Amino acid sequence: MQDRLQLLREKQAQALEGGGEKRIEQQHKKGKLTARERIHFLLDEGSFEEIGMLVTHRATDFGMDQQKVYGDGVITGYGTIGGRLVYVFAQDFTVFGGSLSETHAEKICKIMDMAMRNGAPVIGLNDSGGARIQEGVSSLGGYADIFYRNVRASGVIPQISAIMGPCAGGAVYSPAMTDFILMVEETSYMFVTGPNVVKTVTNETITSEELGGALAHASKSGVTHLTADNDVDCLDKIRRLLSYMPQNCEEKSPDQPFVTGEEKRPALTTMIPAHPNQPYDMRDIIREVMDAGSFMEIQENFADNIVIGFARIAGKSIGIVANQPASLAGVLDVKSSKKAARFVRFCDCFNIPLLVLVDVPGFLPGADQEWNAIISNGAKLLYAFSEATVPRITLITRKAYGGAYDVMNSKHIGADLNFAWPSAEIAVMGAKGAIEIIFKKEIDETSDRASRMKELEEEYNETFANPYKAANRGFIDEVIHPEDTRRKLIAGFRMLENKVDRLPPKKHGNIPL
Ligand code: HXC
Repeated sequence: MQDRLQLLREKQAQALEGGGEKRIEQQHKKGKLTARERIHFLLDEGSFEEIGMLVTHRATDFGMDQQKVYGDGVITGYGTIGGRLVYVFAQDFTVFGGSLSETHAEKICKIMDMAMRNGAPVIGLNDSGGARIQEGVSSLGGYADIFYRNVRASGVIPQISAIMGPCAGGAVYSPAMTDFILMVEETSYMFVTGPNVVKTVTNETITSEELGGALAHASKSGVTHLTADNDVDCLDKIRRLLSYMPQNCEEKSPDQPFVTGEEKRPALTTMIPAHPNQPYDMRDIIREVMDAGSFMEIQENFADNIVIGFARIAGKSIGIVANQPASLAGVLDVKSSKKAARFVRFCDCFNIPLLVLVDVPGFLPGADQEWNAIISNGAKLLYAFSEATVPRITLITRKAYGGAYDVMNSKHIGADLNFAWPSAEIAVMGAKGAIEIIFKKEIDETSDRASRMKELEEEYNETFANPYKAANRGFIDEVIHPEDTRRKLIAGFRMLENKVDRLPPKKHGNIPL
């Protein structure tokens, strides 16, 4: 037995070495942790249990039968985060550049299958040179096996991808089909074709960082949801992100302790500027209303005319979608509609109630928007809200104009509670545009055009630039004092805690993609 134990110890020690000391040193020199170190920082201390430590590849071409490393470039297993079960895979760049072989893929698929059967999130830490070139189509098949599982798992268990090194070619599509992507600044990149191919095909000269680095995907493409300064920061953010989510689509998010007491928030009364066109930062309102320090913004640097993120109110996890008057007056456009729609769908998949804060002057006009399909993209948001069966509360802080009023979780598309502050303006359009249309003839014929327009604008504002017409119709359930907002929301979400709403039986809907 002693011999056998010794053999096991030797094999385990070899597995722990990965691609060897030299390659580990190179990894550290790049500012990156190794796959094992990443798992250590991600999971609760001592909770990791490895699966498939002694797996080796089966390839023989190009002398591969002489080059086998235990684990085959990916470490897989399970452990806990905040005491809750998670499954994890971490690609090991020190072994064949973390490239994906048939067996490497099988290991990932195995833990994905387990995660599905046991109803717990999967976290992928990606750091890979892509398809293992020596394995050809077997490797491509391995990728497709993972893609297929990503889709099957979508909406069943949360899936999170961290990009912590290269991620190129078709390999990007697995993270793209997961719920959230995090990227580490300066050491990670994602692209379908790299700078060399770009140069050959389009003659553009561009670096990997410019083309597919964390900042490019955080601000230009919106592919990544969060960026991190370094590996540890990235792993911390994953832990925090998971704290807002349930384990699977059958469960609710865990509650967190919060400070009880006086729920009035007098600061909210002065947050709306005196002039209706003056901007303010909607995030100040969010922070004032939510549990202290609980707001985690997602896609902060992409389409910042809409704010999305998780927060807690009275200890309960909620998703927030809010127009942002501080950017483009909070208008809805192609990018912000897509950004918000995907977030709404995530929250709905995982039973996370939604709070929608509205200050929207309408949809952004222009040929660029029309030709980039603001029609179908705006419809995505409308569809996502209309389809959502989670508790949904709306608060109109200021403007709710035109189609955007309908889209932003209005009563008509299934919101449960609709509040407005007295500063709300709910109408088809703003005063100036409206009177130029309905009083065009009269204005054209008037000698003192300016003063007549002013009069008409005042009359219009008195009639429409308030929440009362909507409240009279019951489209607004209550016009509330801003300082009572937190209390009203706590009561509202509590009242909706056991909400049951189901979509009609169907295979699946056909969201305007
Ligand atoms: C096998 C690979 C590999 C790969 C890297 N390595 N990529 N082995 N298959 N795809 C190995 C290298 O041989 C090297 O082995 C070690 O990993 C580290 O690689 P280096 O090149 O020394 O590292 P670095 O300079 O940091 O460059 C990293 C890299 C580069 C940018 C990722 O290795 C690279 O360009 N690799 C090829 C990327 C690629 O074209 N992959 C296929 C993409 S297509 P040693 O033994 O020297 O340590 C694809 C299709 C997926 O993935 C389709 C899915 C549908």
